[in-house]
Formats: sequence, structure tokens, C-alpha cells
Amino acid sequence: MEPVRMEARTGASGGGVAVVTIANPPVNALAASVRAGLLRTLREAEDDPAVRAIVIAADGKAFIAGADISEFGKPPAPPSLPEVLQAIEQCAKPVVAALNGVALGGGMELALACHGRVVAPQGQLGLPEIKLGLIPGAGGTQRLPRILGAAPAFAMMLSGDPVDARKALSLGIADALAEGDLLGAACAHALRLADAEHPPRVRDRADRFSPEDRAAFEAAAAAALKRASGQPNVEALVASVRAALDLPFDEALAVERARFQALVEDPRSKALRHLFFAERAAGRVPGIGREVKARPIEQAAVIGAGTMGGGIAMCFAQAGIPVTLIEVKAEALDAGLARIRANYEASVKRGSLSQEEMDKRLSLIICAVGLDAAASADMVVEAAFEDMAVKAEIFSALDRVAKPGAILATNTSYLDVNAIAAMTQRPQDVVGLHFFSPANVMRLLEVVRGAATAPDVLVTSLDLGRRLGKLPVVVGVCYGFVGNRMLAKRTQAGERLLLAGALPHEVDAAVTQFGFRMGPFAMLDLAGIDIGWRARKATGGRAPVADALAEQGRFGQKTGRGFYLYPEGARAGVRDPETEALITSLSDAQGIVRRSFSAEEILARLFYPMVNEGAKILEEGIAARASDIDAVWVNGYNWPSFTGGPMFWAESVGLPKIVAALDAFAAETGDETLKPAPLLRHLAETGGVFAAGEGA
Ligand code: 3HC
Repeated sequence: MEPVRMEARTGASGGGVAVVTIANPPVNALAASVRAGLLRTLREAEDDPAVRAIVIAADGKAFIAGADISEFGKPPAPPSLPEVLQAIEQCAKPVVAALNGVALGGGMELALACHGRVVAPQGQLGLPEIKLGLIPGAGGTQRLPRILGAAPAFAMMLSGDPVDARKALSLGIADALAEGDLLGAACAHALRLADAEHPPRVRDRADRFSPEDRAAFEAAAAAALKRASGQPNVEALVASVRAALDLPFDEALAVERARFQALVEDPRSKALRHLFFAERAAGRVPGIGREVKARPIEQAAVIGAGTMGGGIAMCFAQAGIPVTLIEVKAEALDAGLARIRANYEASVKRGSLSQEEMDKRLSLIICAVGLDAAASADMVVEAAFEDMAVKAEIFSALDRVAKPGAILATNTSYLDVNAIAAMTQRPQDVVGLHFFSPANVMRLLEVVRGAATAPDVLVTSLDLGRRLGKLPVVVGVCYGFVGNRMLAKRTQAGERLLLAGALPHEVDAAVTQFGFRMGPFAMLDLAGIDIGWRARKATGGRAPVADALAEQGRFGQKTGRGFYLYPEGARAGVRDPETEALITSLSDAQGIVRRSFSAEEILARLFYPMVNEGAKILEEGIAARASDIDAVWVNGYNWPSFTGGPMFWAESVGLPKIVAALDAFAAETGDETLKPAPLLRHLAETGGVFAAGEGA
């Protein structure tokens, strides 16, 4: 099918209007074929004496989701978007956009180049380029300030968030809101404009610019630049909006375009674009097609009202799904519900939640004692104690109680989902749903596919994850799944660094400098050093420094001391001479001559073993794609998004360099697990990349 078609509109409201319709599913991205089709049909309409006005419309739910992101970085195919937009703006006949759905990025820019804009109630307009490490590159930074003023336009482009149809109308971005027949309203508007002498052009406006607006913009720009140190797109946005105020339109447009094109080549934007596609690919399971339908989930149950269970129940309530919170004892339920209520009350106090919404969510959470209360749930999520015996008891009981077809999910972080499934007569209905703490906040959801998990259970879990506002990523069964399995490698490497001569603050500084919000030791102090210590006691594992700290009752923030010291009332830890002396004494006891490490070496020692583990995870099929691993680490562990995630980052470092370093680490420590995975070595030797040969 042609991506752009043109029809003549006849009848009372539409005679003399050419309707140009974009049809490029799924979201009408402005691919080369669409740009070419738009230019061609526009010229035809302009040359046709029977046409008085033109309406640009779109098929499907979206108007236009923007430039085609997959074309970025490839050789440019003419015509460029600015060329198409210039043709629209300079068209002698009025062009009106009929905005039926989202108009984002280049899609909104196209609408701004039109002479009029009519929006349907479900329309949304926004310039989200900043989220991809870019700025609008087809006039957005020039035309939006002319409609809103520089300061409000800058704020909108800096957030990247869209406005809805009503807001667009009240701001003057849209000229009219069409409650019913959008196309009819757009045609009527276009004909009205045809009766005027010249089609109105946004570029000719300067009525919103004023000294006050300029001052407000400069203040906002200074604040944004301070916050965004090192983010080139924020700097480019400031420069482009300033150009709108200082330069003639065409010159300023050229400034914007040059800035945009430079950003497209910036590795940070490439990383963010990689993640855009990674997050969407993560929801696709190789071998499971669209024919597999999700089971309906209208009612849920969560077993365990602890921090995790309570957080999961909040996720269901937030999505409007009634949920029964189940405990063995009424006291535990009361405590759990009190925690949930306190959490909501804090949000109401902060202003991020209305009282009404809080009441609504609380009314969706029903508390019950005993597993029988799970009988009517379509989805049961077990979030009880992390102990196989406890899980075994719960799942064999659930097998008796739950209705046929109910999905039985476990929130285990480490335990064998297949063994849990084997406790039931319906292993096909069992799946892992690994939420991250705090469950109501963290976006990642590892969906653990057991050996017997049915395809529709997987599809339902992915669907549900999205309903809960999560990013679901399918992973296979192994100790720690994708995220925690790789985290264990970082933790082990951190311990080694401390014993070899680095101090906690040096390691954490290297990691936060890299872009993480927190370093590994500050993180351990926050989570509680005792958690890993107790787990290691059970499994026979060793972490000499963390264990020594825990044995002294230094559990981290909760005891006021751990890797750092937390003086009364302090939120951030400070260096603790006692901890540092303890670390040095442990090195001495092992006969290690301590030495210093550069930030670069610290990162290599922490992250290369993780990348290696990621390669093993791929080899074993625990993750279907390297990009799934990146999606896990960015959304669950705060890996800095502008580096694209560990596997994308590894490729930017160079796989041969990583392989050589891992060989050296393995030789130095005698730890065979640090030897490069065969896949990693193969890719390094052949110049390959992780993405090659992956499932779609
Ligand atoms: N380019 C290419 N593909 C795109 C795309 C785009 N701009 N927007 C969405 N897609 C693809 C997705 O990759 C996905 O493909 P898949 O089915 O093969 O995985 C498909 O369209 C559907 O997307 P979603 O799964 O995200 O569908 P939703 O319905 O949840 O969301 C959306 C739709 C709100 C449009 C969302 O996709 C979105 O936010 N898209 C990106 C918008 C954007 O950032 N636009 C700016 C682009 S940069 C630009 O325009 C530069 C200009 O200034 C010159």
C-alpha cells in the first residue's frame, strides 16, 4: 500500500479540499517513503486548480510518531523532513493538520509547519526528542516558541512530555478541537483559511516574544544547564531556542538543524535510541506470535504483606485491578496495610497523589488471612519468605485452592522456578514475576519462563506487566536470573578491589562518575549488608569484607555504620576510618600488597566480569537478546541509560579489549569463571557484535 494517498473531498463542508492521508503502520513514522509521498501529493494538490485547500490526515490510532528513528545514523534519503515542512509552509494553498492521535517529534513539527491544526479529543502533541538525547530537528525549536513564548516552549521541549488535546487548544498550539467528525472539521477549517488572503504561518509570528519572556527563558536555561552537566542535547536546546530569539527564522532554523545532526552522531543519543528499541523488543518472545492470546486478569491476589508483597499489591491497585492481600496472621496484615497507607499518605502530602485516588486504591486492596482467599483470583503472586520450603508449602496449597486457569506466579529473586512449579499439578500455569524493590516504583519486571510455562501464561504476564506500568523482560531459569546473576559478579569484583587496595569511596566515586546514581558500597549500605551475609551463611559463600562488617553488627544505614559512617541525621555516608582499617587488615592477613587503582581500572574490574556473565547468559539462552540484558540493567539497577546498558557499552569499549582484560584477571586471581565466555571470545576474534543472530 502507498504510504501516502490523496483523495478529493467533496460535499457541503469539503468541496475543493484535497485530503492527503499518511498510512505507514504502526505509528506513521516519517520514513523516507512517507516524506517523498507527502512532497509529491502536496505538489500535485498545489498545482491542481480544483483544489483550494489541503488537509493532512493519518490512518490508524497515531497521527505521526515522529521521524523514523531506525533511519537515524543511516545515509540520508531525500527529501529531508525540513524540505517537506518547508514545502508545506510555503504552499500557496492552506494546509491543515487533522490530528487524530499522537503527534510527536517530527509529527508535531509537521503540524506546526501547517497553516492550521484541528485536534481530536484523544490527540496528544509533544516534542520528546530530548529523551532520545536529541532536540527537535525540523523546526520545533523555532515554531513552538513563536506560539507559546520562548520560556514555556523551552520547558515543554526540556521535559519532552506531550500535552493532551484540551491543553493544546488552550495553549494555542491547536486552533480547534473536533469532538465528532475530525476530517470534516479540518476541511471546514482549511476552507475558511482559503477565504483569507494569505495562509497564516507560524514562522511570521513574533507576538509572544517579549523582554519578560526572554528573561524567564534565560533563567530556565541557566538552571537546566546547571542540572544537566555534560548533556549535549540540553545545551543544544538552549542554543536553538536562543537562536529563535536572536536570529532571522531561516538562520535560526539552520542552527537547530546543525545541532540536531551533530546530536544524531553523538554516542549518548545512539545509546538512548538503542534502548528505545531494546525496551520494545524485550516484550517479544521468539517463537510466540500474535495468535497467542492473553488470559483475562480481572482479580489478583498477593501472598505476603511484607515490603515486597505490599508494593506489588499497590501496583495492582494503581492499575485498577482488585487485589486480595493474604497473610498467615492478622497482625502481619495490619502491619502491611499500615505500611501501604503510610506510603500513600506520604504521596498525598507530596502532592503526587490525590486523596480521592488514594481512597480508590485503598478500596481495591482487600486483606485476608489464609490462602483460601486466593480462590477467585485470576493471578496469584507469591511474595513470601525467600525459602524453598515456604514456597513449596504455599504452591502445593495454591494448587488445591486456585481456580483452574489461574496463573500462579512467584516473586522469588533466586530460587528455581521449575522446582516451585513442580510443587503443583499445573506447572504450565506457573511463572516467575520478579519485581524490584520498591515494587510500586521500579519499572523492571523480570518474567521468568519456567521449562513448562505455557505460552499464553507468558503472554498474559507480559500484558499484565505493561498494565502495571512495568517494563517486562522475559528471562530463563537460573540462579539470580539476569539482573542479580550479573550483580553478583559486580559484588565479587568490588570485594576483590577493596582487598587489593581500593577504598569504598574510590570505587563508588568511579561508578557514580560513570553515571550510576549510587556506587555499589553505598547501595549495599542502603539495602543492608546483613541480607547478603545471611544468604551466604546459608549457601557457604564468602565476601570477606562484607562478612567482617556484618559480624561486627555493621549492617549499613540501618545501624548507622557499614562501608560508610552515617552520623545522626546524615543521609549520605562519610568515610569511616574503622572500616578502612578493617579492610587494610584483611588485605594484610591475606598477604596482599595494597596498591592504588585509577577510576578506569576500577570500572574495568567491576564491569567486564558482568559483561562476561551477560555473554554466558546469552549462550545459555537465559536472555533472548543482548538488548534484553541492557533493558534489565537500565530499568532495574540504574545503569546509566546514556551508555546504553552493559552489553551496548561493552561493544563501545571494544570486545577484544575486554577479552584481553578478562584473561588477565583470570590469570591473576586464579578464578576460572573470569575467563572470557566462548561467545565473547568468538565475537572479539571475528569482529562480531552481540546482536548478530539474535531472535527477533
Ligand atoms: N520511529 C520508528 N519506529 C517507531 C517510532 C519512531 N518514531 N515510534 C514508534 N515506533 C515503533 C516501535 O519501535 C514499535 O515497533 P515494534 O512493534 O516493531 O516493536 C511500534 O512502533 C509501536 O511502538 P510502541 O510499542 O512504543 O507503541 P505504543 O502504542 O506503546 O506507543 C508511541 C506509541 C507513543 C508513538 C511510542 O512508540 C513513542 O513514544 N514513539 C517515539 C516517539 C518519538 O520519540 N518521536 C520523536 C522521534 S525523533 C524526531 O522526530 C526527530 C525530529 O525532530 C526531526
